[in-house]
Amino acid sequence: MSGPKFAPLKTPGRQGNRYNRGMNQDELKRAAARAAMDHLVEGEVVGVGSGSTVNFFIEELGRQRQRFPSAVSSSERSSALLRDQGVEVLDLNQVVTSGRRIPVYVDGADEINPSLQMIKGGGGALTREKIVAAASGRFVCIVDQSKCVQTLGRFALPIEVIPMAAGLVGARLLAMGASPRVRAGFVTDNGNMILDVAGLSITEPALLEAEINQWPGVVTVGLFALKPAALALVATPQGVELREPQASGGT
Ligand code: 5RP
Repeated sequence: MSGPKFAPLKTPGRQGNRYNRGMNQDELKRAAARAAMDHLVEGEVVGVGSGSTVNFFIEELGRQRQRFPSAVSSSERSSALLRDQGVEVLDLNQVVTSGRRIPVYVDGADEINPSLQMIKGGGGALTREKIVAAASGRFVCIVDQSKCVQTLGRFALPIEVIPMAAGLVGARLLAMGASPRVRAGFVTDNGNMILDVAGLSITEPALLEAEINQWPGVVTVGLFALKPAALALVATPQGVELREPQASGGT
């Protein structure tokens, strides 16, 4: 189970390549992040995910902090960036118990399918992301087009595990024919470890999410299929496409 960090397969456009209209991947991420501003509810608490695409979104929030002064965050990193931008970071428990709404949660993804089910956790923040998403209304996913796939599983599936259970969980994954690797040198915000699991063709994401989630020692599996995104903002060199979930057998 120990060994080098699993390196996901490279996909066209994901390594900062220039696209045919001269937009690189960061420019596409920024375009998706900007588009998300149109889907927020002014004055309400914003749910904020984690990752490089979300970092651009946090910059935009900072520019418009008069309209969107407060947020609930899914990682220590995002919290720090939000504070740098002058956006107040609220405690999720206080927001929920006071009855305040979080109408929209904005986050990136490592992969997203046509049903808007996702693999997340490339940055290791999957557990808090799933918590904040569950506490929020609409999940608005911001991605560049390289994240769109027909079938989830090309990107190694992150699973946050309690350290003492890594061997047990890893053995179950091996028995399924998958290849788990401990993410070397990485500790989550919750003090746990991540297994990156290659070799899964995930044809029924919601079933697999429900299955793995109930294994002893698993904190969170990085499948976001039981509650997929309500809307994906997909940045392409031609513009940002709005995609709603298509029905599929991937339940
Ligand atoms: C972090 C995540 C991110 O949303 C995901 O890894 C995408 O990140 P990026 O926008 O940097 O490509 O799930 O845990």
